[in-house]
Amino acid sequence: MKTYTIGDLPGDGIGPEVQAEGLKVLDAVSKIHDFKYELVPYPHSGEHYLKTGELITDAIIDQWRGLDAVLLGAIGHPEVETGLVERSVILGLRFGLDLYINLRPIKLYSEHLCPLKGKGPEHIDFTVIRENTEGIYSQIGGHLKKNTPDEVAIVNGIYTWKGCERASRYAFEVADQRAALRGDGKPPTVTLVDKANAIRPHDIWTRAFAEVAKDFPDTKTDHAYVDACCMWMVKNPEWFDVIVTTNLFGDIITDLGAMIQGGMGIAASGNIHPGKTSMFEPIHGSAPKYAGKNVACPLGSVSAVSMMLDFLGETEAAARVEKAVGALLTSGKVPSADARSGISTSDMGDMVLEMLEK
Ligand code: IPM
Ligand code: MG
Repeated sequence: MKTYTIGDLPGDGIGPEVQAEGLKVLDAVSKIHDFKYELVPYPHSGEHYLKTGELITDAIIDQWRGLDAVLLGAIGHPEVETGLVERSVILGLRFGLDLYINLRPIKLYSEHLCPLKGKGPEHIDFTVIRENTEGIYSQIGGHLKKNTPDEVAIVNGIYTWKGCERASRYAFEVADQRAALRGDGKPPTVTLVDKANAIRPHDIWTRAFAEVAKDFPDTKTDHAYVDACCMWMVKNPEWFDVIVTTNLFGDIITDLGAMIQGGMGIAASGNIHPGKTSMFEPIHGSAPKYAGKNVACPLGSVSAVSMMLDFLGETEAAARVEKAVGALLTSGKVPSADARSGISTSDMGDMVLEMLEK
């Protein structure tokens, strides 16, 4: 029996609390489905940085390469320079391990969680493939004459053919898998979301996407500019099956996606390089104001565990966790999937455990 080696990186704020529940579920499901894992703790966070001055080094990135996966809670500390630890840890993982896919499912389990009028689970079920190693996140740029009246700030958006191609290909593959799972004969659809009208270099996406589409003749293709995409996500979310988009646009539209699927407390993501060490995390941040209060919703972390298990090939265990989350959210016991649900973080974890057995 293989033992999975999993990096345990709880991070800041509500991270450790939600991660504890995710790990509780991992432990329970490992017993039901008979697999073994070993956790390798990583203390890195804003808190840790304030105490020790330590950030992510090349040596740590090398260590990560030896793991099967990393589970991350949340990163971000109000007393640390803006984005310093996020860039070091989250982008350190994404860029350091070349996790070029950010897989973000947007699935509404129960109508009462959705802020959109008249929309239910039959309307909100799509997946966003966010390119995860390029775009305006590339960290290429800087300041000239900083803090003078002549200051110049430059940020470069990097789009490579390889980056656009592999993200597009992954999106078409996911669309095929989703269509097979649906099994209703409805063809898969992949929508490219960009801003190629105003940002002409986005045309590299248009062409790479079209090139990949040739290998998937049975898949419908569609296109939306990112502003229109936001509109359709609110007005007609049922139009989407799989979206592929740039790093920044994917960041933005998946917060909107999280809201229509029930809130930041539910949404989860996989930072993936197929076949290599990948990282799984809730989409929410460290939410300092809720830290240490045992009120944060841990379902994002639990769903991240499900995505991690699916990636590791423990597909039955993954499906069991996903089903448990769905069953809990439709049970009528969870009024909202956020810090105001009236259900503590640890109780919510226990409620998932109960559903696992069913
Ligand atoms: C996310 C987050 C990160 C991002 C931040 C924390 C750097 O918002 O994972 O969506 O912008 O990618
Ligand atoms: Mg984000």
